[in-house]
Amino acid sequence: MKETYLNRTVIVGFQSARPMKRIIQVEIGFFLLIIAVFFAWVSSVLSQDNSIDEEVESFQAFFLERFYSVSLEEFNQGPYSLPQSASKESTFHFLEQLPPYMHALFPARSDWNRNYNGITLKNCMSQHPPANRFPYVLDDQIISVENAILACLKLQGRSSVKVGSSLLSALVAVFREQSRGSPIQIDWVNEKLKYMYQEGYRIFWGRRGQYNYSCASCHVSNAGNTMGNEVISAALGHTSAFPVYSQARLFQTGNGWITLHEQYQRCFSRTGAVAPPFGDQRLLALEIYQTLNDLSIPLNAPQSRL
Ligand code: HEC
Repeated sequence: MKETYLNRTVIVGFQSARPMKRIIQVEIGFFLLIIAVFFAWVSSVLSQDNSIDEEVESFQAFFLERFYSVSLEEFNQGPYSLPQSASKESTFHFLEQLPPYMHALFPARSDWNRNYNGITLKNCMSQHPPANRFPYVLDDQIISVENAILACLKLQGRSSVKVGSSLLSALVAVFREQSRGSPIQIDWVNEKLKYMYQEGYRIFWGRRGQYNYSCASCHVSNAGNTMGNEVISAALGHTSAFPVYSQARLFQTGNGWITLHEQYQRCFSRTGAVAPPFGDQRLLALEIYQTLNDLSIPLNAPQSRL
């Protein structure tokens, strides 16, 4: 750079009767070029950001128009948000008065304050933003609630607690319930998050599996329609309720919690495709895509599923 710049000044010096003035002109030109490149870069970054903003806005507008009696805030009750679930909605509200997940939540609440290795989860997790701001990026790493809690458990010397275990799901529920009612707010102007959003977008809208369905085939095109005896939920608000708790699931497996990633796995199987394993980046990408679509919806986790 410097050499080229120096060469230029030499040439300029030969050609001009007033070399100093030319040098200043070249410097000003170079300076203006840098400013122009800088502004072009800023505007390209901003325009990309706007495009995600616009996508989220039109995604939300689609559901608000289709289910016009449901406000944005009310999309946080999964399938029971929709008028088509009215018959189940009253049972759901009745259950939420004394939720069946309470017996699983109480021990996890005390665990939250218990000291292991001089560390409580309460203190360890207070280093992070509140649950309505997850996932977020720290030191170029995407941090999800599960990963943050797993890292704290490791510091406590409890690495044996695994993803998909009933204890970890209950601890996620304890953390997320502390932000119940707070609108989802993600600071997503970050290259990593934007990349994952695009990945999640691709997975959500892409058709796959034996039945050639995409997530959107059911949760956009057929939201509000029934499948078997279930009303298919709107994709809007999906992330706000998790983990959810199902008593039917408790009787089947002994663990009533269903995490968001597990739900994604179950729905992958509904398309006839092989579900990605726990820890797969595709599940995180879907979580990021869906969480961004849920911007401004108040958290409402955990919740029962009938
Ligand atoms: C063939 C239809 C179908 C496809 C395809 C499908 N789902 Fe589902 N999904 C359902 C049904 C039915 C349920 C249970 C009722 C409900 O909650 O919508 C469900 C439940 C869910 C829930 C839980 C909602 C709640 O609050 O309880 C989430 C989240 C979800 N699906 C996400 C996805 C994602 C992401 C994909 C793509 C990987 C997908 N689904 C593909 C039919 C489908």
